[in-house]
Amino acid sequence: MTEVLLIGCGRMGGSLLKGWRESGIVDRPLVVDPAMPSLDGVTVAAALSDLPDPLPRTILLAVKPQMMDQALPPLAARLPDGALVISIAAGKTIAYLADRLGSKARIVRTMPNTPAAIGRGITVCCAGPGVDATGRDLADRLMRAVGAVAWIDDETLMHAVTALSGSGPAYVFLLIEALTAAGVAAGLPPDLAASLARATVSGSGELARLSPDDPAKLRADVTSPGGTTAAALGVLMAKGGLTDLMTRAVAAATARSQELARG
Ligand SMILES: NC(=O)c1ccc[n+]([C@@H]2O[C@H](COP(=O)([O-])OP(=O)(O)OC[C@H]3O[C@@H](n4cnc5c(N)ncnc54)[C@H](OP(=O)(O)O)[C@@H]3O)[C@@H](O)[C@H]2O)c1
Repeated sequence: MTEVLLIGCGRMGGSLLKGWRESGIVDRPLVVDPAMPSLDGVTVAAALSDLPDPLPRTILLAVKPQMMDQALPPLAARLPDGALVISIAAGKTIAYLADRLGSKARIVRTMPNTPAAIGRGITVCCAGPGVDATGRDLADRLMRAVGAVAWIDDETLMHAVTALSGSGPAYVFLLIEALTAAGVAAGLPPDLAASLARATVSGSGELARLSPDDPAKLRADVTSPGGTTAAALGVLMAKGGLTDLMTRAVAAATARSQELARG
């Protein structure tokens, strides 16, 4: 892959750039970001107008959703024919992007998550009209540089995707905080409770990733009848317990995403 233009290089754009540089899948990354320091092997510009024509035919949009109205018009004016535009902006639909970028753009809308910072994210992609297998493959490879990739055909599922994997890292960090607080309440020193909680969540996550067994089996493996784990699961799996809570949390995030989309 030769040239890719990254517009917006904050937390998520920065993670992508790091993934591309480490994997070497992009020969020449170009970055437009007003606050970006210079970087070896990367062409950096403060504004799109600082880059010469023609622009690369592969462009990744990583500005905040509220900056899109400002970022898109100068891009639309100079977009190469058939350009592949990949957006990671939460809530910005393919129709919204197509409306502002015009018919020259083939659009892939994606939703990554913050473990992308360590190459362990998951990105869900949805291709707009006119994106062929080559375009899909390109988008897949660019997002795969920071973790796993899944595809959906129905764009409306992006609300639920956002609620599960986009926002999901926050739920897991809250789980670490909650376990820490529970450990302190049970009498552990705060530092020990915090390191036990962090190691338990990250180690269990890694086990779930690497094991051929599904999570229910892994849970059963820790649980002997009448034992300590069973006592805790009796609380967590009771009516109104963790599954009910998580279902309500994801439903609230999904509803909020739908609400934001209506403007
Ligand atoms: N963080 C997440 O969990 C997450 C998950 C999935 C998707 N996303 C999406 O990722 C996108 C970026 O989020 P983020 O958290 O990485 O935001 P961020 O850290 O604020 O990064 C955005 C960057 O874009 C720059 N920028 C602003 N206007 C620009 C313009 N017109 N041209 C070029 N660059 C411009 C900003 O510079 P200044 O700071 O100087 O304005 C900033 O460096 C958002 O659309 C968000 O919805 C984020």
